[in-house]
Amino acid sequence: MAGSGPSIPLIARKSSGLRGEAPIPGDKSVSHRALIFGAMAIGKTRITGLLEGEDVLDTAKAMRALGATVVRKGLGEWEVDGVGTGGFCEPEDVLDHGNSGTGVRLVMGAVATHGFNTTFTGDASLRKRPMNRILQPMALFGASSVGRSEGRLPLTLIGAKEPVPVEYRLPVPSAQVKSAVLLAGLNTPGETCVIEDEATRDHTERMLRGFGAVVEVDERAQGRFIRLQGQPELKGQEIQVGRDPSSAAFPVVAALLVEGSHLQVPGIGLNPTRAGLYETLQEMGADLTLQNEREEGGEPVADLIVRFSALKGVEVPPERAASMIDEYPILSVAAAFAQGPTVMRGVKELRVKETDRIAAMATGLRACGVEVEETEDSMTVFGRGADGVRGGALVSSELDHRIAMSFAVLGLAAQEPVTIDDAGPIATSFPNFLPLMQGLGADLVLDEDPGLGAGHE
Ligand code: S3P
Repeated sequence: MAGSGPSIPLIARKSSGLRGEAPIPGDKSVSHRALIFGAMAIGKTRITGLLEGEDVLDTAKAMRALGATVVRKGLGEWEVDGVGTGGFCEPEDVLDHGNSGTGVRLVMGAVATHGFNTTFTGDASLRKRPMNRILQPMALFGASSVGRSEGRLPLTLIGAKEPVPVEYRLPVPSAQVKSAVLLAGLNTPGETCVIEDEATRDHTERMLRGFGAVVEVDERAQGRFIRLQGQPELKGQEIQVGRDPSSAAFPVVAALLVEGSHLQVPGIGLNPTRAGLYETLQEMGADLTLQNEREEGGEPVADLIVRFSALKGVEVPPERAASMIDEYPILSVAAAFAQGPTVMRGVKELRVKETDRIAAMATGLRACGVEVEETEDSMTVFGRGADGVRGGALVSSELDHRIAMSFAVLGLAAQEPVTIDDAGPIATSFPNFLPLMQGLGADLVLDEDPGLGAGHE
């Protein structure tokens, strides 16, 4: 689990020409959902391309603890024998979701309408994150909870014995909250309705339909209404998990910033509710082309071709935030190497991710010689141009995989090496990040013996 072992620093040095093919691992969001819906279905679900990162492995353990049979058959190949809607049993021990906000929040939704108690915990990052956003709608179904103040983990969710369906308008744009409400609605008679003001990632709606549930989506001026008919019989499926656009963002931006780079990134999931970064990079002048656009496993997919590019700063529209919410850390690195400022507004949700990502990026970028302004819900990075970022700092990853990978990418194009204090969190979402990047030519090394003076002034 991230943060449970000794910290191993990662040193990133200026590299030249990243080249070759970058096979990105499976999509984290889709992987969690494939395991959970498989566990709630009747019969076998066969999954290929599952992300075997720590976050997803914790969800697999949780599904076993709730009574499903979950077996790894080979690399990325998993089989889930589900218990059917309403068939979970009380877990004998605490469910530990490690670093994963998605894992814990989706599973809370899945158990909230089962008449038993479940205790949840996680690592130091997850124990700080807000869970009231889930507990409030779960209370409308009839569930209750007891935990630390402000709904922090560890907490025990007391499932509703006779759940009632709800209509719930999301107070924050969050696919995790939307999905938790829909998952709770599965074991509830009648119709559950979630309303979102702006579209968040829609993997839950797509996959629920694939498993045989009736889910209707109605886009109106008053919002996006998602209606689920409760107590469906979900049937086991074959699921091919696409490659994660949020993970692909790291080698893609690295190739844009490292002179002489030319990468092929095959089969990236480009669901419109996830693809905002790629649109933004193109607006910044990135030489990024999409080829062979197609559909795989119910999701749009394309091959990406990316070359080193001179970037310019842009204003990212706030209405695009939901479709690239996980990509602002790496976008702010791209922005540091662009000409002129990049303004990112409407990004308050970044403050409640694995860490406060606005604060973490601002601190690390400033340490690397980049000027940053922040407000509660915005960040402006003053770009220094392709050769203008000094680097030469020790940066804290703060138990956040995306902060760690973002500064690793920054170090590949900065003038002086960048050390990330702990590479451990990267394993939560991109376990082969290091060998994959090294294989493309990135000068990234683990500092196994940090006592021997790889530090910075
Ligand atoms: C996710 C939703 C997003 C995202 C997270 C994955 C999901 O979180 O940041 O990495 O799979 O539903 P929020 O729902 O908190 O925005």
